[in-house]
Amino acid sequence: MSKVTVVGAGNVGATCANVLAINEVANQVVLLDVKEGFAEGKALDIMQTATLLDFDTVVTGCTNDYSKTADSDVVVITSGIPRKPGMTREELIGVNAGIVKTVSENILKYSPNAILVIVSNPMDTMTYLTLKTAGLPKNKVIGMGGALDSSRFKCYLSKALNAPANEIEGMVIGGHGDTTMIPLTRFASYKGRPVAGILDKAVLDKVVADTMVGGATLTGLLGTSAWYAPGAAAAYLVESILRDQKKVIPCCVSLEGEYGQNDICIGVPVVIGKDGVEQIIDYKLDEAEMALFAKSAAAVRATNDVLKEINMLS
Ligand code: LAC
Repeated sequence: MSKVTVVGAGNVGATCANVLAINEVANQVVLLDVKEGFAEGKALDIMQTATLLDFDTVVTGCTNDYSKTADSDVVVITSGIPRKPGMTREELIGVNAGIVKTVSENILKYSPNAILVIVSNPMDTMTYLTLKTAGLPKNKVIGMGGALDSSRFKCYLSKALNAPANEIEGMVIGGHGDTTMIPLTRFASYKGRPVAGILDKAVLDKVVADTMVGGATLTGLLGTSAWYAPGAAAAYLVESILRDQKKVIPCCVSLEGEYGQNDICIGVPVVIGKDGVEQIIDYKLDEAEMALFAKSAAAVRATNDVLKEINMLS
């Protein structure tokens, strides 16, 4: 029996629960929200699709009752406020840090062995906060950003190549910020052919630029943060954990010397399996890519420093 809790039944959390149910990734999914009746309503709505979509996963909702989340194998934390048009993810730190810290404390009271998947923004800093405060080993704290950003990268590549996204390999590492993410064009390929040899430089540059502001573009169009891709990206991580798929997924994890960095959580390619983070893969970045990574890490670290200023790490 596998059990997943999704904290936050807003757009991203509910989408994640929905994808987990449709794909029968877990036997049981608990949605939890602070807003009275909200998670219960979302869960009931999802359950009313069970016969239409033919799934057996049982989704339930609860209002802030962490006892209902007991013995979860994986917990996805989406709580907090989303960004509005014109806002950066980093601007959310003051509000979201307190929320994420409280949520992880409550979760671990009932599911001390859970693997945590962090979605709340600023995602790299919320992952770092959780790693520093929850007392979990580093393999059990995973930030979702790179899975989402890589999916957006492949989507833009597929449009530029006029090819199916599923035939494209592509990875985004670094921070999950409009200026910190690093789409690795050198490693992107279409059926084994490097995309750099197929697309003009100007087209590839545009794909990179579009990927980096992928979230901001949607915030502008929707008036709030995106949800289908973020929710599905979190579910994709959960699936690789629960089914022990050992997929290589770029995601935000604690680095201890890898990629030249220490004391930071940031996006790198990781083998994700039943133990959570099972291996960090070294992609042998060239000098220019390493420089971009160091710059990205410096920006993430600057946001992490705010945690000290607002007394979140004490
Ligand atoms: C995005 C948010 C979820 O990138 O960070 O859409």
